[in-house]
Formats: sequence, structure tokens, C-alpha cells
Amino acid sequence: MKKAIIFGITGQDGSYLAELLLAKGYEVVGITRRVSVPTLDRINHILQKIKIIEGDITDAFSVSNVIKKEEPDEIYNLAAQSHVGTSFKQPSLTWDVTAGGVLNILEAIRYSGRKDDIKFYQASSSEMFGKNYNLREGLAEMIKYQDEKTPFMPQSPYAIAKLAAHHLVRNYRDSYGIFACSGILFNHESERRGEKFVTRKITKWIGEFKKWAMDCGYVSASFDGDDICCNDSRFPKLRLGNLDAKRDWGHAEDYVRAMWDMMQHTSPNDYVVATGETHSVREFLQIAFSHIGITDWEEYVVIDPEFYRPAEVDYLLGIPAKAKRVLGWEPEISFKQLAERMVDSDVQEARLQRSDLQRV
Ligand code: NAP
Ligand code: GDD
Repeated sequence: MKKAIIFGITGQDGSYLAELLLAKGYEVVGITRRVSVPTLDRINHILQKIKIIEGDITDAFSVSNVIKKEEPDEIYNLAAQSHVGTSFKQPSLTWDVTAGGVLNILEAIRYSGRKDDIKFYQASSSEMFGKNYNLREGLAEMIKYQDEKTPFMPQSPYAIAKLAAHHLVRNYRDSYGIFACSGILFNHESERRGEKFVTRKITKWIGEFKKWAMDCGYVSASFDGDDICCNDSRFPKLRLGNLDAKRDWGHAEDYVRAMWDMMQHTSPNDYVVATGETHSVREFLQIAFSHIGITDWEEYVVIDPEFYRPAEVDYLLGIPAKAKRVLGWEPEISFKQLAERMVDSDVQEARLQRSDLQRV
């Protein structure tokens, strides 16, 4: 039986990866940091099957102790301060966790006495490309895209920290022969996505709004959204920032498969993991709202400068050709399915909450 350590097991990806590894027969050890509120929601359903150890990747001692004691075959580092907007407000913390934490793990592997027996996966990010892209001739126009050869030009403290970690991983692979690989993952979402990321913020709002509208008697259970009064001030509108940003959005369940695939290959390497499609925040809004029957979504959204970033990444579209060719990996869940699954889940979740007609 193989043993894997997951740093960041309580996050979106950590929970899906833990499920995948358990299904493959692994012994799974998850590292969780002590916080004052419960953070195990995403893994409650598998808690009996995994081992949880308290630790923090900024604490070099706890990292090296757990790696020495547990003697893992594989280590997946998914831990990070992962919100780009927050990284502008807390750049120092973002640096310590997202860059420094990775150095702690790599050093711990190097001095573990088992450096040739441990494989390491690092969660790199398409944010590292920032403003950069390549051009390829398409049928009607030039297509902008990113792949493993696109130069990096990070636009946020988060992306800069991820890029430092990315280079550390390559450097430890080259310098010490550690089996260390980075997945350059483009945006991936799910029913378990954190509520501050734009897709989940939208679907969470939709779920709560639909429940409220039904409680108010605006709509029947069959829900014809266009009957709803969008100007009832008792329910606050959805406040968002830049709707023109384009992202290559996939489903996290597909993406954790790619992580595992990389670790099973005979040699370590870096791979772009993406869908090969790009969509704007507007397109996500359109699909998500129309899934509950609302076609005039603009009436429900307010643009709020608070959610604009000091520097933006306008366009991401990843070409996962290498992952397909070398690993045989391909995504299975489409953009539309992703958005609709997230809406369905948040509608369901809101329905289970208590009625609250007087929201404001
Ligand atoms: P997430 O939901 O925000 O999860 C982040 C995880 O890191 C949580 O388990 C969090 O623990 C943990 N963590 C934060 N600070 C820590 C610390 N100091 N010590 C130990 N653990 C710490 O992120 P995600 O969406 O699953 O993404 C997983 C990884 O992939 C992240 O590194 C992210 O930057 C990267 N990534 C994500 C995407 C995407 O679109 N989702 C794309 C590219 C790369 P708590 O539960 O205690 O907060
Ligand atoms: N979060 C947020 N909230 N984003 C908004 C909002 C809002 O109210 N309104 C517009 N946006 C725009 C952002 O400006 C950005 O262009 C886009 O929506 C996506 O924002 P996020 O969902 O926060 O994701 P991200 O692309 O910044 O970062 C995510 O993907 C990266 C991979 O490219 C995170 O998961 C990162 O951890 C990950 O590395």
C-alpha cells in the first residue's frame, strides 16, 4: 500500500485528491493547520479513512518531522494562500506560505534520508503567465494561448510567490535529483470551491436568491426566473468586479486526476493542465443565471470597484497538449456542465437553510 501526504487537504483540491487516492488504495495522511473555526467540512465524509496531523507549511520543524515520521511515497503540496485578491492585501503572508512553505517541504525531503524514494507534486498556477501569451493562427483569427513554453509575467504577489516555488521545484529536481513535478493548473472550480472565488460567489448568490424568491412567493417551485422582481431591495444585488476577464475553467475532479498521473510517470516534469477553452466572467453569469430561468442577469448584478484588482490577468487559455500526449490526460466535464453543477448544488444547499425573508 502506497502512502501519500497531502498538504492542503482541507481545500477544494485536497478533498478531491484524498478521495481519488483512497479509491486507488493509498494510505492518506492530511496535514491541517490549527484555526479557531472548523475547516474539515470538505473531508468530513472520509475522516474515518484518513490520518490527520496538525501542521503548518510555514513551520519548517513540523514539516520535516511529519515527513521523517510518516515515510511517505508521495507528497502533494496543495497548501497556499490561494486567493489572488487577498495576496494584494496580505503580500507578506502570501509569500511566506505560498513560496516559503514549498522551500520547507523541499528541504525536508532533501534531508529526510529518503530523498530518492519520495515523489513531490507542487500546485503551480496559470496565474504565473500573467499578461503573457503566444499566438497561433486559427480559422478566423489569431488565437492567444499559454503552454509550457510561454514565458512567465506574474501580475500579483500570489503569482510571484507561485513562480518562486515553481523555480524552486525545478531547481531541486536538477540539483538533487528529487522526483519533483509542477502541475501548471488553470482555473478549476467545483461544488466545493471557496466562496470568495468568482464562480462560487456567483452560484452561491444564485442559490440563496432563488430560495428567497420562492419563500417570497415570487416564483413557483418550477421556477420561471423572469417572473422575479429584480428590484426588491430586501435582497442585496450581486456585487462583482471585472466581468471581462477571461479564464480557462475546468472541474477540480478532472484536475486532481492529472496530478496523480504526473506522479506515476517514470520521470518528473512540468505540465499545463487546462481545457483549451476560454470564457469571460460574463459568459459564466449568463449560463449560471439562465440555469434558474433568468435571462436578464445584468439586472441583478452591480459593478463594485472594491472587487477590482490593482493589476489584472485579462486572458488565460491553456493548451494541455503535453499532458494529453505524455500522460493521456483529458478533461471530461465541460464549462456548461461545471456552471450548472455548481448552481444545482448551491440551490440545493440554500434550500436546506432556514427561511429568512427579511435579509436587509
Ligand atoms: P484552497 O481551497 O484555497 O485550499 C488551500 C489549502 O491550503 C487549504 O487546505 C488551506 O487550509 C491550506 N493552507 C493555507 N495556508 C496553510 C498553511 N500555512 N499551512 C498549511 N496549510 C495551509 O485552494 P484550492 O483551490 O484547493 O487549490 C489548491 C492549490 O492549487 C493551491 O495551492 C492553489 O494556489 C493552487 N491552484 C489552484 C487553482 C484553482 O483554480 N483552484 C489553479 C491553480 C493552482 P485551511 O483549510 O486551513 O485554510
Ligand atoms: N474573486 C473575485 N470576486 N473575482 C472577481 C470578482 C469578484 O467579485 N469579480 C470579477 N472577478 C474576476 C477577477 O478579477 C478575475 O479576473 C476573475 O474574476 C477570476 O477571479 P477568481 O475566481 O478570484 O480566480 P483567479 O483567476 O484570480 O485565481 C484562481 O485561479 C488561479 C489559476 O489561474 C485561484 O484559484 C488561484 O489560486 C489560481 O492559481
